[in-house]
Amino acid sequence: MQYTNDQLVTQAREVAGRAYAPYSRFQVGAVLVGKDGRIFAGCNVENISFGLTICAERNAVFAAVAAGCRELAKIVIAADTEVPASPCGACRQVLAEFNPDLELVLSNFRGSRETFRLSELLPRPCAGILDRS
Ligand code: THU
Repeated sequence: MQYTNDQLVTQAREVAGRAYAPYSRFQVGAVLVGKDGRIFAGCNVENISFGLTICAERNAVFAAVAAGCRELAKIVIAADTEVPASPCGACRQVLAEFNPDLELVLSNFRGSRETFRLSELLPRPCAGILDRS
């Protein structure tokens, strides 16, 4: 089934409501769309040892990979911010592993939406990393 961006934003917002964020009280939801049309949800899950927290976007990627979906087309993110929140640097790098030109739809709970390509937010994600020549 093909979902519209409106439907995906609604789903991302619902997922945000399930975030475990007792420390920051900042709930984020992400819905990742595979090139095969499947969708995978993630929310942020915090921990009392703060550094163990995992963002919504990475949890969505891990769910997709665990289900055998590595071909990613789009991620839709929702949070209750004034300006639609964009993924942190770590999540950008993890997303780029699977599609450096992924489409990103950033949304807030007030109806604002912005669309980017991951390549705009993270240029040259892997340049030089494994190049030892
Ligand atoms: N967080 C996300 O889940 N995604 C983002 O794009 C930014 C930050 C989470 C991590 C932490 O649980 C809370 O938001 C505050 O940083």
